[in-house]
Amino acid sequence: MSDLRIAVLGVGVMGADHVARIESKISGARVTVVNDYIAEKAEQIAASIPSCRAIADPLDAIADPDVDAVVLATPGPTHEKQLLACLEHTKPVMCEKPLTTDVATSLEIVKREAELSTRLIQVGFMRRFDHEYAQLKAMLDGGELGNALVLHCAHRNPAVPPHFDSAMMVRDSLVHEVDVTRFLFDEEIASIQIIKPTPNPAAPHGLSDPQIAILRTSTGKHVDVELFVTTGVAYEVRTEVVAERGSAMIGLDVGLVRTGAPGTRGGQITPGFRERFGQAYDTEFQRWVDAVHRGRSTGDFTDGPSAWDGYAATAVCEAGVESLQSGLPVEVKMVDRRSIPRA
Ligand SMILES: NC(=O)c1ccc[n+]([C@@H]2O[C@H](COP(=O)([O-])OP(=O)(O)OC[C@H]3O[C@@H](n4cnc5c(N)ncnc54)[C@H](O)[C@@H]3O)[C@@H](O)[C@H]2O)c1
Repeated sequence: MSDLRIAVLGVGVMGADHVARIESKISGARVTVVNDYIAEKAEQIAASIPSCRAIADPLDAIADPDVDAVVLATPGPTHEKQLLACLEHTKPVMCEKPLTTDVATSLEIVKREAELSTRLIQVGFMRRFDHEYAQLKAMLDGGELGNALVLHCAHRNPAVPPHFDSAMMVRDSLVHEVDVTRFLFDEEIASIQIIKPTPNPAAPHGLSDPQIAILRTSTGKHVDVELFVTTGVAYEVRTEVVAERGSAMIGLDVGLVRTGAPGTRGGQITPGFRERFGQAYDTEFQRWVDAVHRGRSTGDFTDGPSAWDGYAATAVCEAGVESLQSGLPVEVKMVDRRSIPRA
């Protein structure tokens, strides 16, 4: 079987990482085209890979005959147009979250894909591929703990870039817990409330940090998430499920003692998301590449979060941003999935 020829659009932090991942760790695929708004970035990366070209226009890169599948690691606002081009050219696409930046365009993408007879879009919610999350999911699905009742999460970063604002904590950080909730519980999120406690004095002026998100699922399950992006410590992602017959927690690689600078907890805490979720990204990409190879016979070029999952996450985050202003619970507005055949 010949290698899948991949175009990577956007070679910033994530895109450059994905290029390196495909070239060094993933079997059955190679990068043949790279594209970036900053042409020199793409040219530099293309020059380091045999038989790889930089193409200046992202839509030309998608359409190129040397490209079988596409990775979108461009900023969210560019995704809609690039996803539509992938659908138009029937090219499987791994789209970094978010699917798009607003609910209306996300829904439009879901509908456009559903009109085709193939499933082409996978969204990069990589936590589903992390060994610990996969174990937790298997434990819940196996019924050992009985029904899940409550989810407690913490999502902490040591620092964020200067442009990071309060709404980005919802759209870029909380979005992962939104997907984790939907993944673990297999149900939609019905409402969201964002509470803003006294801010960390070390947080940049105007950033409401920490934030507490309270989610309620469609069957009434409670989820709380502490988002805290200026801890100055390390990258900590913890998830605890409380169920009818016990509880289970992930994200503690050693028994918890205490945390403190410079990021110790008995052992070393991962400094960033790329270290914590490196295995998850690798697994996500290998399974996607395998699915795209299989897709020629199955008609399904994905193995993971769908366009619908991307739409649902966008809808929850949009309601979350509304709650950030009011402090009140906001209902999540989504169409009924059954109203879109094949969504
Ligand atoms: N799954 C995850 O854990 C995770 C983590 C971080 C970022 N992300 C997502 O990945 C995407 C990229 O994030 P990043 O942190 O790498 O950002 P980045 O700013 O480091 O990189 C984005 C790159 O895209 C380029 N670009 C901008 N507009 C473009 C266009 N129209 N066409 C082609 N290239 C364009 C920029 O020049 C830049 O090189 C975002 O959607 C982000 O939300 C996902």
